[in-house]
Amino acid sequence: MPVKTPAPGDLERIETGSADELQALQLQRLQHTLQHVYDKVPHYRQVFDAKGVHPKDCKTLADLALFPFTNKADLRDNYPFGLFAVPRDEVVRVHASSGTTGKPTVVGYTQHDIDTWADLVARSIRAAGGRKGDMVHVSYGYGLFTGGLGAHYGAERLGCTVIPMGGGNTAKQIQLIEDFKPDIIMVTPSYMQVIVEEYRRLGKDPRAMSLSVGIFGAEPWTEAMRRDIEQSAGLDAVDIYGLSEVMGPGVASECVETKDGPVIWEDHFYPEIIDPATGAVLPPGSEGELVFTTLTKQALPVIRYRTRDLTRLLPPTARSMRRMGKIVGRSDDMLIIRGVNLFPTQIEELVLQHGHLSGQYQLVVTRDDLLDNVRVRCEVTPEHRNVDRDAVARELQQRIKNLVGVSTTVEVGLPDSIERTLVGKAQRVVDKRPK
Ligand code: DLL
Repeated sequence: MPVKTPAPGDLERIETGSADELQALQLQRLQHTLQHVYDKVPHYRQVFDAKGVHPKDCKTLADLALFPFTNKADLRDNYPFGLFAVPRDEVVRVHASSGTTGKPTVVGYTQHDIDTWADLVARSIRAAGGRKGDMVHVSYGYGLFTGGLGAHYGAERLGCTVIPMGGGNTAKQIQLIEDFKPDIIMVTPSYMQVIVEEYRRLGKDPRAMSLSVGIFGAEPWTEAMRRDIEQSAGLDAVDIYGLSEVMGPGVASECVETKDGPVIWEDHFYPEIIDPATGAVLPPGSEGELVFTTLTKQALPVIRYRTRDLTRLLPPTARSMRRMGKIVGRSDDMLIIRGVNLFPTQIEELVLQHGHLSGQYQLVVTRDDLLDNVRVRCEVTPEHRNVDRDAVARELQQRIKNLVGVSTTVEVGLPDSIERTLVGKAQRVVDKRPK
């Protein structure tokens, strides 16, 4: 697959600027943002005052650690528009994430915010190898979820032809890919697997698809999944990260020439890694919880927003900004099985390494006699339909025990026995424990 490395003039100057230049810009924008929220958002004035800090105390980037964190609960407590820092009539768009309990989390954008977002998604698509004139098939959901519209505006901003397909309706997706011949697809990695499977079911070779790049995100996925999709679909798979509270897709995105973790667009978002238990900022390279402060947002700036995503910060490579490692998981998704921490991504790696199994899997957690049990449900690929599935289950169970240190019960089903997620994020954990 020919990889499009950026030509001189393709990149914005700040993408390859010096560390000093970037840090000076970050500090100036951070100081402005702290003052803006202190002046405009009663919540921030109250929590800064309660902690005895004032925006003027931020004299260096490290001083950000003096300021309090923001949590999802703060957005919910100020539902719907209480954290907005501009008058409501300057907000040109809202998005919302469906809360599992009760009220959704609402986010808002001024026209300037929408423009910045489009610029950053355009920058992300360019990092993936996309250029003006490419055709981009968007299968992220449109609507309150930020994926579809975020990808759409960014692709248009780069000068691409956008196919606003949205999620679901796999037969239609395939018809449009066949007929329009897009260069790039933007979709969750789990739904890309569904598209590949459907191609095969129709007797077609997914490697013959016109697509040369896939920009995958919105859910955790592993290097094993990257290899699986790249081989089965014949494209370059890159990782795009984001969250609605901070902006949406395009907070960080991977460069196709290195594929070494999403580059954080640090001229707009300042990252920290903290110890999730103590809140202490951890030294460079440590794994912990990712925290973001927005540097340019007008309608909904967030200060030290706790993402719950676990990862590490990595030094710059293809661009002058830091990268993030692949997300190990969300702290909310971490299972503690008899004292051992377990993330679905650890199981995904081992399932895909096996060779006879598809990338579809599910962890079913139950509780008997006060002990938590995990059933790993997976399935053989159609080519391996006739293998001894009990033997495969025993092998995988042993590998999980040896490499992750957790005892599980593995069940290997026939092809297609695991329910696919056609719209939205894949549900890898089914928690049947009593609440
Ligand atoms: O998922 C925004 C997005 C859309 C990102 C499309 C990328 C592509 P939310 O619905 O608010 O926003 O969910 C944000 O999804 O905190 C992570 O836990 C997870 N997530 C997003 N991107 C990735 C990724 C969108 N590349 C939450 N890898 C985040 C792992 C991801 N997890």
